[in-house]
Order: sequence, then C-alpha cells, then structure tokens
Amino acid sequence: MKTITRPTEAVREATYPPPYPDGWYRVSAADQLAPGELRYLECLGKQFVLYRSEDGKSVHAMSAFCPHLGANLQGGCVKGQQVECPFHRWRLAADGRVAHIPYSDRVPHRVRQETWPIRERYGQIFIYHRGGGHVSSADEAPPYEIPAIPEVDAGTMVYRGRHDAGTVRMHLIEFAENSVDFAHFAPIHSEMMIPWTRFKVPFVGVRHDAAWEPDPEHPHLAYFHNKAMVEILGRPIERSRANATITFIGPGSVVTFRFSIPDVGEIVMFQTHLPVAPLEQKVDFHWFADRKIPRLLVSYVVGNWVSQWANDIEIWESKIYMNKPALAKGDGPVHRMRKWFRGFYPEAPEEEPAAAAP
Ligand code: FES
Ligand SMILES: [Fe+2]
Repeated sequence: MKTITRPTEAVREATYPPPYPDGWYRVSAADQLAPGELRYLECLGKQFVLYRSEDGKSVHAMSAFCPHLGANLQGGCVKGQQVECPFHRWRLAADGRVAHIPYSDRVPHRVRQETWPIRERYGQIFIYHRGGGHVSSADEAPPYEIPAIPEVDAGTMVYRGRHDAGTVRMHLIEFAENSVDFAHFAPIHSEMMIPWTRFKVPFVGVRHDAAWEPDPEHPHLAYFHNKAMVEILGRPIERSRANATITFIGPGSVVTFRFSIPDVGEIVMFQTHLPVAPLEQKVDFHWFADRKIPRLLVSYVVGNWVSQWANDIEIWESKIYMNKPALAKGDGPVHRMRKWFRGFYPEAPEEEPAAAAP
C-alpha cells in the first residue's frame, strides 16, 4: 500500500467519541514492578503513581500529585503499604487517606487522595478507569472483572511469550470497529504474511468467515468469531482450517484470542490497548498455550495474527471516524457494535457520544 498522509491530529480527534471509555486497562507487566517500587504513569488522561507494597503482596495506584502542596509522588518512596511524599514527607495510605505527617500530630481526616481499583491477573497489572469526571476510589467495586482463563489457572496452559508493539495513533473504538467491518477482510487481510514480518507469501491467501455478537447477559463482553482457511492459488486447503474466538473484555482495552488448532490444542493470547493520549494506544500482546504445543508453532500462530493486525495500522493512523457512515449490504453490524460501545460511556446520553459529524 502506498504511504498515506496523516491528517492533522486535531482534525481527526474532533470526529471521535471521547478518548477514554470506562473499563479495565493493562498498565504494566507484573514482573516489571518490584516490591517497594513506585512508577509514574500518564495515561487515560490522568497522572498516576503505580506502586507495589514493600512485602510485594499488593499493587496500588493513586494520583501522582500530593494533596498537601502538589509535589510529584514519583520522587517519594514506598513505606510498607504507604507512599511517602518527597517534599514534606507526608505519608499517604493505599486508600488515599493521610496516614502520617512528621511535623504535626493532627492529620486532615477529610483528605482522600484519588485511588484506583487494581488487579493482578495473568502476570499483568490492570487498572479500572471511569470517565465523565468521576473521582475514583480503590474501594469502589468495578462493574465487571477480568474473566478467568480456567486452563491457565489449572496450569494446563502455560505462559509462552509477550510482544511490545509500541504505540499506534488510533482511537480505541477502531479496534472494535475492525471486528465488525467484515468488508475489509478481503482487501486488507486476505494475503498470507510471513509471521512477525511485513512480507507476503506469494500465491497463498487466507479466506475469512466472520461473525460478531455482544454477550446477551454481560454488557461488557462481545465476541468475534473468525474461521480462517488457507488458499493456494485460490484453492482452499481444508486441513488448514483454524478457528479463533476473540472476546472483547470491555471497550477493546483487553481482548483475548483463543486460537484452536484441530488435533493440536489451544492458544490464548491477550491483546491490550492503553490510551496514553486521545489518539495514541500502547499495544501489547502476551500469550499462553497448551503445554504440548511446540513453541515454534505457538510463535507462528501468534506472529501470524500480529502481522495481520499490523496491516490495519496505516489505515487507522490516517482515518477519521464517520459518525454517520454510509453502509451497504455486505457491511457487518457496525451500528450494533457502536451501540454496545456506548455502554462504556455511562455518563453520556443514549445517542452517539459527543462526536462532531465530519
Ligand atoms: S507536598 Fe507532599 S508532603 Fe508537602
Ligand atoms: Fe483488520
């Protein structure tokens, strides 16, 4: 594909829904936050410090700026479960209360530093974000949890790798929209790629058969089913048939892929998006597989997906959001998906969230 000029970011941004829908977001790998470590993080339109208690058992997130006189807590340190500010050494508890002031025997009881719900699952750290000006508290129960992967919990599936894909200048809704955009599979994803590369395999194609549906009982879940089959010189190869069930857990922030390889086994891959700016997603992949699947085959399957995913990037980074798209027979359920996605803006009116018509 030829290089496309990226329009001015502000022009693109004005066409999209608000950039940070409610949901669980992956903020770090668990092994990248050591006991007693404290890190500054800017994402979802907020500034946080993320830290692990000194005993290593719990992870917490709070607003990066001290409620006293606004010092950046990144310069401070972790004491037990608390954070000590570098400026006047106030200590803040994990629930956001002021726990200790070295020069005063009275702490302001009403102060509550903003804190966020955190979960550690599958070797990753997730934060629950609510938009609409909501002041977050770690104690507040999120409306849903990251679902369990029973085979990983039981140890029959094991961790097999990760891939840091850097950032992509797109809105989160584009990833969800991609799954209902059935008409783009043939032009963008029908050529076989060499896994982990941008090279095409000559004369080998991929045929896709896709379906999308929201979960009838759990409004935060939606499923995308893709049956793929390899074609050589246009002839389908029956035994290459592979199924993938893709589960959106929230607004595309956490997406699991379950690849079934007949007679071989299953692979579960997480693709996560973290908006670090309105049109900038940090994208990461990590995956687990049945113990018995050779590592090379696992890497081939995951790399295949990552190469196909990368085919969309140039389109995403240069497009706008059509608030009122002109659709035709053969297009997938774009409006159904958008209605489902609006559920992640509970503060917004029922219609399209505040997006200007292009
Ligand atoms: S600014 Fe943090 S203790 Fe004063
Ligand atoms: Fe795509």
